[in-house]
Order: sequence, then C-alpha cells, then structure tokens
Amino acid sequence: MSDWIEIGTLNDIPKLGARVVTAKENDIAVFRTAEDKIFAVKDECPHKQGPLSQGIVHGNKVACPLHDWKIQLDSGVAVAPDEGCTATYPIKMEGDKIMLSLVPNEGCPNN
Ligand code: FES
Repeated sequence: MSDWIEIGTLNDIPKLGARVVTAKENDIAVFRTAEDKIFAVKDECPHKQGPLSQGIVHGNKVACPLHDWKIQLDSGVAVAPDEGCTATYPIKMEGDKIMLSLVPNEGCPNN
C-alpha cells in the first residue's frame, strides 16, 4: 500500500534542519543531512516524546532536544545505551521534489 504526498523540494529544508509534516494522527519530522540525504521519522522521541524536529542533526543521527538521546534517522533506533525506536517513513525523490509516504516502515514496535 502506498500513500505518497509531495512535501516540497530539497531547498525547502535547510541543511541540518527539519520541517514538520502533519499527517493523520502523527507529526512527521523530515530531516536533511549535511550530505543532502532526506529522512522522515515520527516527530516524537522514544524516551519521553521530545520533538525530534527541534534536535541537532549530525551525520545520520539527530540528538533529541530534551535529554540528548541520539536517534538514528535511517532506522529510528536509539543509539545504545539508550533503547527504543521511533517510526520511520519512506522518502523518495522525484526530480527535486521530495515524496513522503504516510505508511510507516515496518520494524519499529512503536509504530
Ligand atoms: S525525550 Fe528525547 S531524550 Fe528524553
């Protein structure tokens, strides 16, 4: 099943920044890394629901603004010793347009 929406172009998201897409019952944080990779994760830290979209991106991870857990943007999994994961969402590029699927990837029990 697919449920793709266009959420803008690469240049709509600053490098190392994020924009929030409100979808169904979740906010989804869409991140752009220094290497121009795009990742989408639920805008909710697996620790205490901190807004990951306001965190600091470094490499392919984001540091939660509340208690500094590091969340891997590709998998949504917290970096050890912390435990837990947040849902991730498929992204694809069509030309310079960013397409986001509202159907989360499988693998995170917190979906
Ligand atoms: S809520 Fe994210 S580290 Fe605590």
